[in-house]
Amino acid sequence: MCGIVGYVGNRPSLEVLIGGLRRLEYRGYDSAGVAVIDPTGTLVTHKRAGKLHVLIDDLASSPIADGVTGIGHTRWATHGGPTDRNAHPHLGDDGKLALIHNGIIENFSVLKEELLAEGYEFRSETDTEVAAVLLGREYRAAGDLTVAFRTVVDRLHGAFTLLAVHQDQPGVVVGARRNSPLVIGLGDGENFLGSDVAAFVEHTRRAVAIGQDQIVTIRPDSIEVTDFFGNPVETEPFDVSWDAAAAEKGGWSSFMAKEISEEPDAIANTLRGRIVDGAVELTELEPLAGVLADVDRVLLLACGTASYAGMLGKYAIEKWAGIPADVELSHEFRYRDPVIGPRTLVVSISQSGETMDTLMAVKYAQERGAATLSICNTQGATIARESDAALYTHAGPEVAVASTKAFVAQVAALYLFGLHLGALRGHLSAAELATNLAELQAVPDKLAIVLRSGPEIRELARNMTDTRSVLFLGRHVGYPIALEGALKLKELAYIHAEGFAAGELKHGPIALIEPGQRVFVVVPSPRQGGVLHPKVVSNIQEIRARGAHVIAIAEKGDVAVLPFADDVLRIPLAAPLFEPLLAVAPLQIFAMELAAAKGLDVDQPRNLAKSVTVE
Ligand code: G6P
Repeated sequence: MCGIVGYVGNRPSLEVLIGGLRRLEYRGYDSAGVAVIDPTGTLVTHKRAGKLHVLIDDLASSPIADGVTGIGHTRWATHGGPTDRNAHPHLGDDGKLALIHNGIIENFSVLKEELLAEGYEFRSETDTEVAAVLLGREYRAAGDLTVAFRTVVDRLHGAFTLLAVHQDQPGVVVGARRNSPLVIGLGDGENFLGSDVAAFVEHTRRAVAIGQDQIVTIRPDSIEVTDFFGNPVETEPFDVSWDAAAAEKGGWSSFMAKEISEEPDAIANTLRGRIVDGAVELTELEPLAGVLADVDRVLLLACGTASYAGMLGKYAIEKWAGIPADVELSHEFRYRDPVIGPRTLVVSISQSGETMDTLMAVKYAQERGAATLSICNTQGATIARESDAALYTHAGPEVAVASTKAFVAQVAALYLFGLHLGALRGHLSAAELATNLAELQAVPDKLAIVLRSGPEIRELARNMTDTRSVLFLGRHVGYPIALEGALKLKELAYIHAEGFAAGELKHGPIALIEPGQRVFVVVPSPRQGGVLHPKVVSNIQEIRARGAHVIAIAEKGDVAVLPFADDVLRIPLAAPLFEPLLAVAPLQIFAMELAAAKGLDVDQPRNLAKSVTVE
C-alpha cells in the first residue's frame, strides 16, 4: 500500500518520479504527490487527492520548478481521508523538508502530543506528518538528514518506509525501512529508490533490496546503507529479470486483460528449468533439505487470492506427499496460539511478498520454531528474504490489483513443490510422478484454449450487468475456484458474490436460491472414477428446481450437465487436480468483463490496493 519513489541524479526528476508513480499506482490511488529541490535550492511540492492523472493534469496546466533530486508518492489512505491536505509529501523544518511514507506509525498520537506541546503545528490528520515534523526537528539539531533519521526511527513504532529530502542537502535522498518494502535502483550518475523495482525498471535493472531496520542514503554517485545505529551494511545487488515493457499494457484494454492472457506463460515460466529428466529440481529448496526429509505437517499461510492457491496446495501436498497440510489466513493465524510442531514447515504464498499480515504470520511462525518457505513473485521481497528459502513464481510483474496470472503461477509452484515432496518422501512412484509432471506441463497449452472463449464470456457478462448477487459452487478442488470466482466479482464489479462448497449447499446456502439467481458451478470431471461429478450434477438439479440460472464450467464432452445448465463454459480434459488451473480463467474473465460493461476501472477497483502493507 502506498507507492514510494525517490530520485537523485542528472536529469529532471519530475519525469522520473511521475514515471515511477505510474508503475506503482497499483499500490494505492487515493492521492499522489511529489517534492523536488529546484535549481535555486528551494523545496517545491505538489500533491492532489484522486488518481495520479489528477496530479499529472495539474502539473501540466501549472508546472512547478523541476530539479535533479526528488521524491514521489501514491497513497492508499489509512490515517486521514483521501484529501489534498492528507496527501503526501508532508513537510517539516518550516517547509524545507519533505517526507513520504508507506505503512502505519502506531504511536503517532503520543508523538504528536509531544510536538504540539513544543509549539509545532500540523496541517493534516495523518500519522506521516508527525514523522515529517519530528524529522524536521531532528534535522535542525543534527544538520544532516541521515543522522536525523537515526534518531527518528528510534522513536517510531509500527511499519514504515520513509523517504525524505531537505533543501539544504540537494543531491541527497534518505530512506528508512521497517516492515515495509524499499529497493534501490543503481544507475550511472543517478540512483533511485522505490517500493519495488517497477518504480525504476525503465531506467535500470540493477537493484539492491534494503533489509529490515536499515537506513539508505543515495547520492548521484553513491549509495550508503546502514542499520538503524549507523553501522554499515553490505549490499548484494541483483538483476531484475523482466524489463519495463513487461509492465506496460501493450495495446490491451487493461492490465488485467493482458495479465490473464499471460497466464499460460506464467505457468510455463514457473515450471521452466525445474523439471529435469522426469524429476523436479528445486535447487532453491536446498536450505530446507534437512527439514523436507523430516517434515510431518505443512502449514500454508496467505491472504486473498493467494490463500485459494494455498487451498489447492493443501489438496496437492496431501495427495502427492501424504503429509497433513492446512491453509490459514495469515491474519487469523497471527493472533491466537497456533500449535507449531518441531517438524512443521510453514509455506507462505504472496505475489508481492510484502503483504503485512503474511509477513507478520511468517515471523510469528519463525518465533515458534517453524522452518519457512516463501512462494513469491517479486524478487527481493521482504517475505522471501525473511524466509529460510524462496521458491519464486515467474509470472512477471502483475499490475492489475486483482490477482490473476500470479494465482495460476502460485498453484503451479505449489504443485511442483507437492510433487517434489512426494518424490522425496517416496510417496509417489516414478510413474505417478511422470504422469503428474506431464499433466502439469500440458496446462499452459490447455489454458491457451480456454482463453479463446473470451468473447463468449464477454457476451454472458454483458447480459448480467443488472445482476445484484451471484453465487459460485464448487467441490474438492473446484471449491477454492468457487471462492476465487466470488472474490473476483466482488473486487471488480462490486456485486455481492459468495462461493460455497457444493456439498454445503443443503446446509444453508440453498435458502438463497430464488428464481433468476445466477449460480456458477464448477463441475468436476465425469471421467477417472468421477465420484463427485454426479453429486455436483445433483446439486445443479436442486438449485435449478428452485429457479436458479445455472452457468456450468464443465469439461469438454460432459453432456450430463446439458439438460440442467442455462449456459456451459467448456474447459479441456485434465486430471482432477489440474482442472482448477483451467476453470479459474473463465471466472476471472467474467468478473473483468462484467466490471468493464458497468464502466468500472478493472485495474484499480475502489478501496483496494495490490500490496496490503499494513495490518
Ligand atoms: C490484496 C490483493 C489481492 C491479493 C492479496 C494478497 O488483497 O488485492 O489480489 O490476492 O492482496 O496479496 P499477495 O501479494 O500477498 O499475494
